[in-house]
Amino acid sequence: MTKTVSPYPTLAELHAAAADAFCQTVTDAVRLNGVCRVSLSGGSTPRRLYEILASRDLPWDAIHWFWGDERNVPPDHPDSNRRMVRQALLDHVPVPNENVHPVPVDIDNPAAAAIRYDTTIRNAFGGAGEPRWDLVLLGMGDDAHTASLFPGTEAIRRTDRLFVENWVEKFDAFRYTLTAPAINSGREIWFLVSGESKRPAVADVLGPRHDPDTFPSQLVSPTRWFVTADAAP
Ligand code: 6PG
Repeated sequence: MTKTVSPYPTLAELHAAAADAFCQTVTDAVRLNGVCRVSLSGGSTPRRLYEILASRDLPWDAIHWFWGDERNVPPDHPDSNRRMVRQALLDHVPVPNENVHPVPVDIDNPAAAAIRYDTTIRNAFGGAGEPRWDLVLLGMGDDAHTASLFPGTEAIRRTDRLFVENWVEKFDAFRYTLTAPAINSGREIWFLVSGESKRPAVADVLGPRHDPDTFPSQLVSPTRWFVTADAAP
């Protein structure tokens, strides 16, 4: 877990650095293991990274794409993280369909959909115990949530599963999310955070008060922070 935050002066510099680091991490993983498994985040800060990656030269046939969290909406809904990633990246590069592993939101039962995706993840890592993501990308909300681990929600405390449904009162809706242990199984775990509104959350998450129920991003052991100066404490 690194608490070292080296702020980037601008969002453009953050995204350029994150894109270069992404390409290096993926290329290394494919060279070493023949495959790279990435867990993607929703959000506007990660989305711009995806857009930049669409113009990069990557071993697209060896990368498998998973979602670290998803909204309980149809795949073509404006709020869908799957739709966002397809529009920003996957529809513009030669990714084999079998390499794209969306959350099965078509299952009209959040608990069943979450169990199905939990199994999908386990199978992608040989059905053994913990996954071993090559890279987990995460955003952070101004309420210090990450993925769909929102303050005061049940999923924060789940350690028995990799992926769960999570009722979020403030949205009056279910979300889907990796659990903290599933996130922390990544070799590389990056936060991508920008904007003045995030500064208090970043300060809380890095601060002396350990309170994951209030600051769920504290559950994560990131290996890198990509933070703009306006969001850095
Ligand atoms: C989601 C994300 C969520 C997001 C943060 C930051 O589905 O919304 O997974 O965790 O990353 O809310 O989003 P922004 O970068 O847009 O502020």
